[in-house]
Amino acid sequence: MGELDKEYIGRGPMATGIRMAKTPAKPPDFRTRTRESKAYSARARRWMPGGVTANVKYFDPYPIAMKRAKGCRLWDLDGNEYVDYCLSFGPLILGHGHPRVMKAIRDSLLSAGTTMFGTPHELEAAYAEYLLEIFRPNGKIRFTVSGTEATIHAVRIARAYRKRAMIAKFQGHYHGGVDEFLVSHAPPEREAKDLVPVSGSTGTPEHVLKNTLVLPFNDLPTVESQIRGHAERLSCVILEPVERSFIEPDREFLKGLREITTKYDIPLIFDEVMSGFRTSFGGAQHTYGVTPDLTCLGKIIGGGLPCGAFLGREDILDLADPSADRFFHSSTFAGYPTAMAAGLATLDELRRDGVMSKLLATSGGMMSEIEETIHDSHVSAQVLGCGSVFSVLFTEAPIRSYRDTLSANQESRRKLDFALLERGVFVKPEKPFYLSTVHDREALTHTFRAFDEILPTMA
Ligand SMILES: Cc1ncc(COP(=O)(O)O)c(C=O)c1O
Repeated sequence: MGELDKEYIGRGPMATGIRMAKTPAKPPDFRTRTRESKAYSARARRWMPGGVTANVKYFDPYPIAMKRAKGCRLWDLDGNEYVDYCLSFGPLILGHGHPRVMKAIRDSLLSAGTTMFGTPHELEAAYAEYLLEIFRPNGKIRFTVSGTEATIHAVRIARAYRKRAMIAKFQGHYHGGVDEFLVSHAPPEREAKDLVPVSGSTGTPEHVLKNTLVLPFNDLPTVESQIRGHAERLSCVILEPVERSFIEPDREFLKGLREITTKYDIPLIFDEVMSGFRTSFGGAQHTYGVTPDLTCLGKIIGGGLPCGAFLGREDILDLADPSADRFFHSSTFAGYPTAMAAGLATLDELRRDGVMSKLLATSGGMMSEIEETIHDSHVSAQVLGCGSVFSVLFTEAPIRSYRDTLSANQESRRKLDFALLERGVFVKPEKPFYLSTVHDREALTHTFRAFDEILPTMA
């Protein structure tokens, strides 16, 4: 480990299995310790709906506003320190401001002399080759500026290939904030019982609902029969191969889905925007040994900068070859050098001997620790996770799909999340926990102590 890394990780190597004596002193409550965030939120609401630029960043009564970050830690406007388990909703797998990534960004800006050229450049092809070598050596790729853009264009190009309008997506799966991906992405219980497409946002046109087939995750017989029944209309099937990145697929489920979509030549799209480099180095397709026709990437591949990509079968991607003038894909910012440099540095670092395996071991160890506290506290809850992402659900019922998650007690989860926030553990309420390679011994110890204090009060 170089001097830079030592300074960055700072407080000793990551470790698991650490338990500390309890410190029973009750911390100041949420509103008392976050007065500046409250004042900020009141100001920001004057200019932005809810005081935020993305709905996902909002929570009641007001979100905490941050001003500084380093490694696995965040500091808010009131100066409170947090161990960060949100990591900007996943991308920052090396933590905040990793020296290698920051250096790559600086070097790229200095050597290019600009933030972008608006022309092809060498780093773009280098990163294209790098990602294809991991995901599809004989395939092709196009970069985008976000995960949403990647899924939008993957679906568009599948439609261009099959010349059909209808898409199949899974209940509870999220592929970005656009009408057709919001269909049934979080339907309430009364509407989730059957698979009727449910609008996820007002303003969704009727034709979107008519052209969306909603499928249940991990239920192969239903999925097979639905795909068979709509085989003449479907342009593609898109899913998160690990649902919301913490509900694992049955191996047979992904294999069966691959077989039925191959049988009818319906492009299968894995949205690995979240699962990419979280389940293993590569994506869920490596972990579960199933190759889709198209893959969408985002989050981690930008090394903390906006970046996405869709890649896959050459015969499908080549529809976008401008000389043939068939499928139109464009974007002013896609493939800008700084994101390519930051992404390459991130993946190179993750690929270093032992880095990924240590992250996965730390994540597994953390899930076991919390499970143990849940058990010792006699709380009706479970930890569900995959790779370096997990969630805590307040139910003991088996969870295999979105519909099953609806049996979990949301109020208890919110109670846990606010108690964690009060103890300097940052999780976006009701969202999963993401780990980084720099969640160190002290951070984990602090987190376990918080769980040790909170869970016994929730039995
Ligand atoms: C699985 C999945 N797909 C797509 C997206 C959209 O990515 P972005 O927010 O970068 O547009 C997300 C975002 O959370 C996601 O989790």
